Amino acid sequence: MAGGIVIAASGNKGYPGKLTCKVFVTCIVAAMGGLIFGYDIGISGGVTSMPQFLKKFFPDVYRKEELNIGGTNQYCKFNSQKLTMFTSSLYLAALVASWFASIVTRVFGRKISMVLGGSLFLVGAIVNGLAKNRLMLYIGRAFLGCGVGFANQSVPVYLSEMAPYKYRGALNMVFQLSITIGILAANLINYFTSKMKNGNGWRYSLGLAAVPAVIFIIGSLCLPDTPNSLIERGRQEEAKERLRKIRGVENVDEEFDDLVNASIESKKIKHPWAKILSRKYRPQLIFVTFIPFFQQLTGMNVFMFYAPVLFKTIGFGNNASLMSSLITGIVNCVSTLVSIFTVDRFGRRILFLEGGVQMFICQVIITICVGIKFGVDGNPGVLENWYAMVVVIAICVYVAAFAWSWGPLGWLVPSEILPLEVRSAGQSVNVSVNMIFTFFIAQVFLEMMCKLKFGLFIFFSVFVVAMTIFIYVLLPETKGIPIEEMAEIWKAHPCWRKFVVDRNEKPTNVTTYEMTEDVKVETKEV
Ligand code: BGC
Repeated sequence: MAGGIVIAASGNKGYPGKLTCKVFVTCIVAAMGGLIFGYDIGISGGVTSMPQFLKKFFPDVYRKEELNIGGTNQYCKFNSQKLTMFTSSLYLAALVASWFASIVTRVFGRKISMVLGGSLFLVGAIVNGLAKNRLMLYIGRAFLGCGVGFANQSVPVYLSEMAPYKYRGALNMVFQLSITIGILAANLINYFTSKMKNGNGWRYSLGLAAVPAVIFIIGSLCLPDTPNSLIERGRQEEAKERLRKIRGVENVDEEFDDLVNASIESKKIKHPWAKILSRKYRPQLIFVTFIPFFQQLTGMNVFMFYAPVLFKTIGFGNNASLMSSLITGIVNCVSTLVSIFTVDRFGRRILFLEGGVQMFICQVIITICVGIKFGVDGNPGVLENWYAMVVVIAICVYVAAFAWSWGPLGWLVPSEILPLEVRSAGQSVNVSVNMIFTFFIAQVFLEMMCKLKFGLFIFFSVFVVAMTIFIYVLLPETKGIPIEEMAEIWKAHPCWRKFVVDRNEKPTNVTTYEMTEDVKVETKEV
């Protein structure tokens, strides 16, 4: 594989410890955090395609859709800024909340932040479930967003601090798996509630968000805080005892000392935000900014938020639309398992590159299908069965590609390349960029579909080409490298070497693995 260079993991520490029951419970809690995020991603699309919901809160959209006012142009019939605001407002709230959450997480601990996340989400679910007018809907969304902001900031931090370093990668992807389970649960609920005769199905869909919230709150309340957080707050003895328990061994001195030192070091840094801007951290800064940006510009959330609306737009009936989005939800969830089982074997780069190529091919097929049938005036005439099948299959293959590449890797890679001193600042950049562009896609998608028509899919495919080249040229393989050794990979990479090697530093020996089938070892002087 060209450009795939891995630095030897020489001299890395091997802290003793196993995957104890306590750490396993940590996984479940992380899963709960992902569930609330996923539930929300999945629920809004189905709800905004329910006629009773539109009739009550967005009558203008309802009239346009049901009564076909405004002509037969299918591309524009759902286009309403107020409707998109319903979906996207949550991500704006989550973005702002995550800044506050980073302070709460640092000063009061991860656990408090998780409990707060669950509680805010619960309030949002109740307000939305009882909504009488549009204002209540937006207020509910704001609370839900704050919940997601707190959960997404604290859960991954909690997880990576509790996990033994050997299992960090797999645990990180469990977070993504739980996001997809949340999306799938929401799709399923929408499928059934949309059939309710009393016209209140949307209330159940929105109100049932309380279930993952309550599970998350109870789970978080039962969990201890992390040793790192206890050390940070001066509770050293308690922290050491906690570390012994979660690692399941008596001698945790080496890891404990490292945690104390890391805490001392990170306290010395007064301005991690300024530090991450320095030349030395350029590769990390580029990746924590561009990976979440590109993740959203794959166009995946177009399908996650608006699958039922989109399926309706391209000619499916109400039921068929919800059914199709249920199918994409299942594909998303199952395909994430593929990445969990392959990422540590085949590496990150190959998944990124394969996923990119697969997404591109699917986007071309979707563009051709929609273009042929709908043209530029958005008037399809009769839609045959074979056409519907091809579109659904192409969308499923696209979703699978995302689910084993940019989905989980979009969270894994930024979190594993950041050195401790800029980890929290870098992670905040990652979360913020992700939320900004999630908001952007949610807000402008319907408008874009109306303006760009079938060209919408070309728009995203151009980004897919760009991101695939970006990974091919710039991202070194990070598989099997301990986080503490990660700084070395930039020194061996032709594009990043000049940024990270100190001009006054003497050349050092860097051992590299050239990535071939049977991993050949070779030594180079840099
Ligand atoms: C992304 C979400 C997306 C989800 C789909 C996550 O990694 O951050 O924006 O909706 O994957 O499974």
